[in-house]
Amino acid sequence: MNKGIVENNKIDLSLNNERFYQKYGRKKTVALFTLGCKVNQYETEAITEQFLQAGYAIGQFDKKNDIYIVNTCTVTNIADKKSRKILSRAKKNNPDSIVVAVGCYVQMRHEELKEMPYIDLLVGNTHKDQLVKYIEAYQQHNSITVDIEDMNHVREYEELNIQKQQNKTRSTLKIQDGCDQYCTYCIIPYTRGHVRSRHPEAIIEEVHLLVSYGYQEIVLTGIHIGSYGKDLDKVTLIELIQQLNSIKGLKRIRIGSIEPGLVTEEFVHALVQCKKVCPHFHLSLQSGSDSVLKRMHRKYTVREYKEKVQLLRRYFDSPALTTDIIVGFPMETEEEAEETLEFARSIGFSDVHVFKYSKRDGTKAAEMKGQIDEQIKHRRSQQLIELMKAEQQLYYEQHQGRKKSVLIEERITVKDKTYWTGYTREYIRVYIESDMEIEGQIVMVELESLFHEGILGKRCD
Ligand code: 5AD
Repeated sequence: MNKGIVENNKIDLSLNNERFYQKYGRKKTVALFTLGCKVNQYETEAITEQFLQAGYAIGQFDKKNDIYIVNTCTVTNIADKKSRKILSRAKKNNPDSIVVAVGCYVQMRHEELKEMPYIDLLVGNTHKDQLVKYIEAYQQHNSITVDIEDMNHVREYEELNIQKQQNKTRSTLKIQDGCDQYCTYCIIPYTRGHVRSRHPEAIIEEVHLLVSYGYQEIVLTGIHIGSYGKDLDKVTLIELIQQLNSIKGLKRIRIGSIEPGLVTEEFVHALVQCKKVCPHFHLSLQSGSDSVLKRMHRKYTVREYKEKVQLLRRYFDSPALTTDIIVGFPMETEEEAEETLEFARSIGFSDVHVFKYSKRDGTKAAEMKGQIDEQIKHRRSQQLIELMKAEQQLYYEQHQGRKKSVLIEERITVKDKTYWTGYTREYIRVYIESDMEIEGQIVMVELESLFHEGILGKRCD
């Protein structure tokens, strides 16, 4: 059966956009869903804009749409499962729609996904800028399209631009792709390929544009941003940050995720002079046990990690430190798990993302003996989550009574009362009561009491 062609009351998706509009009095709708990391969020945003520019309307994912695009993730088996679930949900929302799977999960498992009856188009981690064309070709020819390149051979950064995002105050900004670290647990170097940095000129141009749309904060994102510039030979991460820091109208620069190796005295010394850089660092830990770190091929010891934290604390005033930790890595003993808990406690993180180790075929750790039982992973993960909650509370309590600048993002209702909410430079979520229209403004707030995963305060400027 020809899926796109009108049969009975079916919508004829094979019509070009103009004729479709003439016939049905509406635009074709496309709904998008993002799984996984901030890079995926950025890429979905860029894809959304390409469809808007091509004359499509953006629909809500849970409603009936003509086209669904799912930007998938494969970092863990849970991410795979979620990706499949969302893809099949899309087809259920409209059995006559075109469902497109894009990104990391597709890159690794296109053979398997090709067999899924609810997917029509498969695009891996290249040519995401071609989706409009692929869909238009599919509407004409109606056969499953698959575009997967060998990531090992991709050496060029693929430009995908964003211009305007939904949230008008804070924008992610992709500065590089790929990773050459090959941590033993991680599939990402295989899905994303080698390090490719985006040219600084393109980044700066995009920031100017975002600022002209009213954005005040950018979040630098990438697959391994510590490697930024290594393939370009003309710029380093700190030089890029320095250039961004001098852009008029931009108020805040948040750095995505960094590694201890990047944090040298020279780097931090230069960073602290960039006044727009937020005192919030996501410093990847993964484990608080040296023996586990070694098996993970992480290139630091817990002692070195702690020194980097101390360095950041010496230069920045009470910075927020957040991290990722994997529990249940192969052969992780009770003692090693305990070391991780102890070490995390000794740092005082303001947030920890806890991951249960997930065996990824093709990685070194998948071949290791001593894979850990799911129940044990679950227990270790719960322990760490409990600890994290207490640590976050402690961090927030330290900030009670302080005056902080807050970038107001939106108005929300909590228990029948409305509040404005936004984030401090440390990424503490703050709520205030105010009748004024303050969306997108930076206001001074005195932080008062813990409230709804954040702090309630009152304006003091
Ligand atoms: N299992 C569990 N967590 C993983 N991560 C990466 N690979 C795996 C895996 N195989 C986590 C790491 C990384 C985050 C993005 O995902 O903590 O920092």
